[in-house]
Amino acid sequence: MLIRVTPRHAIPSSEVTDESVYRNRREFLRQAGLLGAAVAGVGLPRLARAMDGAGPQGQGPGKLGAVAMGEDLRKDLTDWGDVTSYNNFYEFGTAKDDPAPNARAFRVKPWTVKVDGLVKKPADYQLEEFMKPHRLEDRIYRHRCVEAWSMVIPWRGFPMADLVRRVEPLPSAKYVEFTTLMDPKQMPGQRFPVLDWPYTEGLRLDEAMHPLALFVTGVYGTDLPNQNGAPLRHVVPWKYGFKGCKSIVRIRFTDREPATAWNKAAAHEYGFYANVNPGVDHPRWSQKRERIIGGIRSKATLMFNGYGDQVASLYAGMDLAKFY
Ligand code: MTE
Repeated sequence: MLIRVTPRHAIPSSEVTDESVYRNRREFLRQAGLLGAAVAGVGLPRLARAMDGAGPQGQGPGKLGAVAMGEDLRKDLTDWGDVTSYNNFYEFGTAKDDPAPNARAFRVKPWTVKVDGLVKKPADYQLEEFMKPHRLEDRIYRHRCVEAWSMVIPWRGFPMADLVRRVEPLPSAKYVEFTTLMDPKQMPGQRFPVLDWPYTEGLRLDEAMHPLALFVTGVYGTDLPNQNGAPLRHVVPWKYGFKGCKSIVRIRFTDREPATAWNKAAAHEYGFYANVNPGVDHPRWSQKRERIIGGIRSKATLMFNGYGDQVASLYAGMDLAKFY
């Protein structure tokens, strides 16, 4: 996402890497001892890339049965290979095909999630305890990246609202902040100041309570591969993908709008709300259309990523060009 382009370039701006990011990336790969592997990987055939998505135990997709929401999108599902090998997870590198190989050895067990801030029931949960009362369901959601590409993904998770009710926010709580694990030993990207680590994201409390907002532990009927944010991430389908924080270790309730990683990196490009909006261009490219990953065509982007009927009322009276 940190990319600079010349305006007349024939390649979509979202595909062009700025030299400083490129250099950072090479330095990152060199220090992580990955440069040879990455160079060797250039031009690998499609099959080899799909295998990169396999995850630690050679994981493949599970069986996707009935879905609780989004059945109409089943015909548009993005392939498992693309979902698990074309990723943004800067803790494991800045290129789309970095996270799958670089996160292979990432340890997601044991995993602790801290819930704190303005709540009646703060706690440090082992992931198993965190999950225990919640019933997982499969939902197929549209996934629109701010870089003007999209996928359709069958997530497995539970409504964020269930967790919010369980920990009982105080009346003063207005926002929720999410934080990714900070562990430069395991996450080589954190050894470089690409973002202000650890990655943080935030939602207004009413957004977090919306029935579409999910805590996610799986995809395609199986556990999340590491590159997709194992063991716990969140997904808010009417917002650009960067609002979904991966590998969450902390959920904090607060009365102030949380600072977020991409907003800190480039405030004029990545706002707090980040609602999908074809009417508000990114300063460096249009948001009107989206490239479909794995498909041959692009398509028109829908307001709120097609979830406007469900979520538009959250923003009634707000100027969405100002609060982008
Ligand atoms: N979370 C962390 N911790 N680090 C990241 O770099 N990238 C974000 C988001 N969450 C990111 C992150 C961006 S830009 C996107 S588009 C989505 O994760 C990508 O999720 P996916 O790789 O599962 O498609």
